[in-house]
Amino acid sequence: MNRQNSEWNIRTYPDTILRATAEKIVNIDGKIQKLADNMLHIMLAAPGIGLAANQVGELERLIVFDRNPGKDNKDPCVLINPEIILKEGEVKYEEACLSVIDFSAEVVRSAQVKIRGVDLNGKPMDIEADGLLAICLQHEIDHLNGILYIDHISILKRALYKKKLKKKLKAKK
Ligand code: NI
Repeated sequence: MNRQNSEWNIRTYPDTILRATAEKIVNIDGKIQKLADNMLHIMLAAPGIGLAANQVGELERLIVFDRNPGKDNKDPCVLINPEIILKEGEVKYEEACLSVIDFSAEVVRSAQVKIRGVDLNGKPMDIEADGLLAICLQHEIDHLNGILYIDHISILKRALYKKKLKKKLKAKK
């Protein structure tokens, strides 16, 4: 595939598509396969440990992620219509996002999660996760619901980021 001509690229805040809710995928057709393939490529090239379809401008409930985040042996994975079916504990971690440029902030999330979805063949897939993978999965599923990690930080910190971004965008002009 000629990825040079890919129609998909990473959308960044404040792009409104990041605020929209993605639709449940009913048909895993050629477009979904191609989207997943491109998203895996974009995630690995970024590099990132996860990516949701909203982030490349598609309102489909599809996420890609590295099942071994932060490790050398990458295990890229596609999950369709992911849902959190179990949450436990609490963990605080400094998060960043490919759609929120030049920023990171501590976010509190569940420490362990169980996620249910289907793979590209429509086969049910359950993932039990803790550590960085659990954080990543919650972050990506948030994206499908139009939620960004900066929504989980204090109003003051978020305002600081908006100010910083405004300055940066102004400087670019
Ligand atoms: Ni993100």
